[in-house]
Amino acid sequence: MSSPVSVNASAPTGAVAPFRVPAPLAAEIDEVISHYPQKRSASLMVLHALQEHFGYLSKGAIEWTASKLELQPINVYELVTFYPMFRQEAVGKYQLKVCRTLSCALGGSYELHDHLCHKLGLSSHAHGPQTTKDGKVTVEFVECLASCGTAPVMMCNADFYESVSTAKANEILAHCK
Ligand code: FES
Repeated sequence: MSSPVSVNASAPTGAVAPFRVPAPLAAEIDEVISHYPQKRSASLMVLHALQEHFGYLSKGAIEWTASKLELQPINVYELVTFYPMFRQEAVGKYQLKVCRTLSCALGGSYELHDHLCHKLGLSSHAHGPQTTKDGKVTVEFVECLASCGTAPVMMCNADFYESVSTAKANEILAHCK
């Protein structure tokens, strides 16, 4: 079991507070790593644990992971940027993902995204995830969510919604409080 580990994630241009992992989480991660013959094989599990705790993977979290697994930071960045489930920025308590791939696009997902953005005071033209000023709700387009026959589809955190009409979108938003 290890004590809290920190990595100084300071950028060359200025000091940034070191990234700290609480002792219980560090112990949990050590336990996970111990199940793999090679430390690097635990990379995804470690990243999931850090994201679950902190909400996203900061530069410090990536460097901490690299140090922990005896890798170079670029090895970890490659994973974080390849897998869409990893986030490098904080998101709201409620994360709305709207599918924009062909079936959903034809089924009205752009109109659905417009509607959600309008209701939340966000721009429907912005690229990438957008979060409301109060930090509660994040809206973003994603690629195929594997339910093309029930377009348009969206997710709110782990909940999946099919054939989402404007009225249904309003109901989903009503739960985001
Ligand atoms: S295109 Fe939207 S779920 Fe496949």
